[in-house]
Amino acid sequence: MPKPQLLHFLHVLSFNVFAIAAVIATVTAATVTLQLKEAPQFYNSPDCPSITNIEDDPNGESSIFCSDQAVHVAVTLDSAYIRGSMAVTLSVLQHSSCPQNIVFHFVTSAAANVSFLHATISASFPYLNFQIYPFDDASVSRLISTSVRSALDCPLNYARSYLANLLPLCVTRVVYLDSDLILVDDIAKLAATPLGDNSVLAAPQYCNANFTSYFTTTFWSNPSLYLTFANRKPCYFNTGVMVMDLDRWRNGDYTTKIEEWMEIQKQMRIYELGSLPPFLLVFAGNIVPVDHRWNQHGLGGDNFRGLCRNLHPGPVSLLHWSGKGKPWARLDANRPCPLDALWAPYDLLQTPFVLDS
Ligand SMILES: *[C@@H]1O[C@H](CO)[C@@H](O)[C@H](O)[C@H]1NC(C)=O
Ligand SMILES: *[C@@H]1O[C@H](CO)[C@@H](O)[C@H](O)[C@H]1NC(C)=O
Repeated sequence: MPKPQLLHFLHVLSFNVFAIAAVIATVTAATVTLQLKEAPQFYNSPDCPSITNIEDDPNGESSIFCSDQAVHVAVTLDSAYIRGSMAVTLSVLQHSSCPQNIVFHFVTSAAANVSFLHATISASFPYLNFQIYPFDDASVSRLISTSVRSALDCPLNYARSYLANLLPLCVTRVVYLDSDLILVDDIAKLAATPLGDNSVLAAPQYCNANFTSYFTTTFWSNPSLYLTFANRKPCYFNTGVMVMDLDRWRNGDYTTKIEEWMEIQKQMRIYELGSLPPFLLVFAGNIVPVDHRWNQHGLGGDNFRGLCRNLHPGPVSLLHWSGKGKPWARLDANRPCPLDALWAPYDLLQTPFVLDS
């Protein structure tokens, strides 16, 4: 990578001291380059629906960017997690029977250089259907309270609550994916989850998890707060993998409902985690449960130490390094957990070894 680009890349990072440390380490390890490799091209199998793509009219009704037959995927993109976001993309394409019918909607900070990110993605995925949406993270910053782990306080972490506003109105359903996961199964199966007559979200849910522990005693001692769960049986779900009906979201104005809980949190600290609890407050008990195979989460360990974890029993369609430890960081530091080896094949970072050979 030429020097000005690298400097620019670091400049983009300057909002996040934590990220700078992480990426400088990466840059050094990779002999001062963040060049990503080009992924292979992926082709539809013969029985995929054919979607006409009108390139010069990206938001026209007939474009793949508006098609109900396409699988729409939303992923956030920032400098600290770009390797992760690219690994998500590669894993989705590689396991899809109709990879050319997938549209990626990348959400990035309004401060990021969109043309640089566009060029970076195009270099790795020259054939990808994608759009980049700048997210006005300043507007959500005022609503964010500090959580137990500083990385959870990043405004982009809250972008999932704003997808209905960010994506074009013609996109009615999207699969949201965190940047620290890989798919090992066809995303079309997940995207096709029936949402019933009125559910807004589908996600794996965990009714054995202690739901009480996601909120503080302040919350549980105030009926005007906890009675929000009256008439539903709330269960924990992880917001890193969600099928979202954006029409229903828009009609119900759920972004505002989430923001209202964030306002309350600002005043009385009703939970300790970041963007997750407001989702639980608004949706827990009313989501469509998805098979647990679609979110084998916790592979990053806990929120404090990032210990190695094993897979939960049962089949696996998606591996998720939620928690503090990220596979790219552990691989770079030469102390990977055993399961990090499953992430490594999707890493597009050009390694010094490859450059030298
Ligand atoms: C953004 O990135 C592009 C492409 O890498 C570069 O040409 C341009 O100078 C950058 N803009 C800013 C404001 O840094
Ligand atoms: C659930 O969590 C709460 C709060 O952290 C705790 O007081 C309670 O004992 C837990 N219940 C069970 C069954 O573990």
